[in-house]
Amino acid sequence: METKDCVVVVGAGLMGTGIAHAFASSGHPVTLVDTPSQALARARQTIEKILADGVRLGKSTQDDASAALERLHSASALDAAPGQAALVIETATEKMDIKQAIVREAESLFGEETVIATNTSALSITEIASVARLPARVIGMHFFNPVHKMKLVEIVRGLETSAPTVHKAQQWSQGIGKTSIEVNEAPGFTTSRISALLGNEAMYMLAEGVASAEDIDTSLRMAFNHPMGPLELGDMTGWDTRLSVLQYLHQTLGEKFRPCPLIVKLVKSGRHGRKTGRGVYEYDDKGARIPNSGVRPF
Ligand SMILES: NC(=O)c1ccc[n+]([C@@H]2O[C@H](COP(=O)([O-])OP(=O)(O)OC[C@H]3O[C@@H](n4cnc5c(N)ncnc54)[C@H](O)[C@@H]3O)[C@@H](O)[C@H]2O)c1
Repeated sequence: METKDCVVVVGAGLMGTGIAHAFASSGHPVTLVDTPSQALARARQTIEKILADGVRLGKSTQDDASAALERLHSASALDAAPGQAALVIETATEKMDIKQAIVREAESLFGEETVIATNTSALSITEIASVARLPARVIGMHFFNPVHKMKLVEIVRGLETSAPTVHKAQQWSQGIGKTSIEVNEAPGFTTSRISALLGNEAMYMLAEGVASAEDIDTSLRMAFNHPMGPLELGDMTGWDTRLSVLQYLHQTLGEKFRPCPLIVKLVKSGRHGRKTGRGVYEYDDKGARIPNSGVRPF
């Protein structure tokens, strides 16, 4: 296999794990960075499972899966990652100050040719890039969960993002088998803007007692052919991330994005979704949904 660009992924949560897998299994050496070591251990386990499932389903060979794992490295801090990388993707918690700090640090560690991408769901790429000395190399590469199944990457251009940076992001997306679209920065881009609204409205319906969570999800699956209902999807995305996105959209786009109070309560109670074992629904240790479980709004 030809030598492919080295990629550093910062943040080994849901998305960082999926993005690291996507690049490693397409032949890129990948370093995954996170601060708590449990996050890195969990990410590796998840990637091993995705690769093993791929072999079991005949989508890849055992040799390819082993080679992908060999290409995957981890580091507890960005300055412990190798100094040569063509692409740094930050996939850390959805907070502006965290993302800007990562951009600042990446710029101080990597050469001018390195593209710095952010996987933010909604925040301003222009604002994230404003702390950079070379904002032309900062771009949004918005992946979807689960990354190994979802085909789209939204490539988001900030005010100062250069055409060569956009071109490189398109090439990398194509190289890992994704379809990309190009978006001029706007809060929530094209996808999160719609998805946040749908999930918020579903939560209002649950809070108002319009129907049970299961029936709201079934209605969208059966009536509109959505592969998942909006409440199942929120459990998968994480209601903490959802709430941050809604708060940002509310602040930037107005009243129709005001977060449903039930989402705020869910987050306060630690019901963040699948990642904490409880969200709108509840899950066992293996991640299977526990029948007739879930939040009771009344
Ligand atoms: N969850 C989704 O479906 C989804 C989809 C698309 C985009 N996103 C975006 O991707 C980003 C990550 O979301 P997630 O769902 O993976 O969150 P997550 O909570 O699962 O993971 C975030 C990880 O970032 C780590 N982190 C925080 N600060 C860090 C730092 N300074 N350096 C290194 N690691 C750090 C945390 O330890 C955690 O492991 C967010 O911007 C989110 O909006 C999420």
